[in-house]
Amino acid sequence: MDARPGRRVAAARRRGRGVRDGAGGPPSLSIGKLLETRHHDIDQILREALEHETQGLACYRALLEITRDASISLEEYARKMIASEEMHVSEVEKMLRRVD
Ligand SMILES: [Fe+2]
Repeated sequence: MDARPGRRVAAARRRGRGVRDGAGGPPSLSIGKLLETRHHDIDQILREALEHETQGLACYRALLEITRDASISLEEYARKMIASEEMHVSEVEKMLRRVD
């Protein structure tokens, strides 16, 4: 490993560009498909929320696969977001359970 900070930063930037280019270029700024179905009872709203959280979880898992062994910081970001999305999925699933 090169001990000079400037070279390490430049190498990290090159790796970052490689990760970005490997993922097909810079991310799109357009929004994805909206999940709104215009159903407004609480179960339907919660199911839509669960679908949204599950899709987010799948995206962060895909990010983790893309960044694995390519960028520690992006891997850590993906892992942190996966943990967060797993928590959200769990919370929505709890809300969907019936209390009889
Ligand atoms: Fe979430």
